[in-house]
Amino acid sequence: MDYKKYITEKMKGYQGRLSHILGVQAEAVRLAKLYGLDEEKASIMGYLHDIAKKLDDQTMRDYMIKAGYDLKIPKKIWHAYVGEYIVRDELKIVDEEILRGIKYHPTCTTDMTDLMKVLMLADITEKNTRTAEISILLREIQDISLNRAIAVKLKYMIEVIETPDQNTLNSYQQYKKYME
Ligand SMILES: [Fe+2]
Repeated sequence: MDYKKYITEKMKGYQGRLSHILGVQAEAVRLAKLYGLDEEKASIMGYLHDIAKKLDDQTMRDYMIKAGYDLKIPKKIWHAYVGEYIVRDELKIVDEEILRGIKYHPTCTTDMTDLMKVLMLADITEKNTRTAEISILLREIQDISLNRAIAVKLKYMIEVIETPDQNTLNSYQQYKKYME
């Protein structure tokens, strides 16, 4: 399947989001290459990670129910849970690393593989749309240590972004040792 073509179709009318997605794909592949990881999988994860981002509220809600998730889960991470569901149920991707990478890319979790870390970092460091100071800082760190970059991103999420998810808090406990 041509995932680039697929996502370009899906994101028709959402130029900014598509630009972000293509940026994440490019950055994920670059990082995968740098760390000797599976570039093909990194590419798929990059293209598909925000597949559910532009669904309307009702469709998103329907998917959450269909997938068996509690609607009390914070809304800002629904797109990742629903995205994982769509990729599994509709695109028939069975690779657990791809699926879990998509599901946990906004929050992190305590058993991340290196490819999952790469996706989580590329999401904030891609060069097409990310210009914030944290993105610039993480671009330097991620080429030296994935674990340290994840620790810095988690700390930023907890300190700067409101109401971090429990998975984010648990992950930071695991990764904070890489801050030193
Ligand atoms: Fe994203």
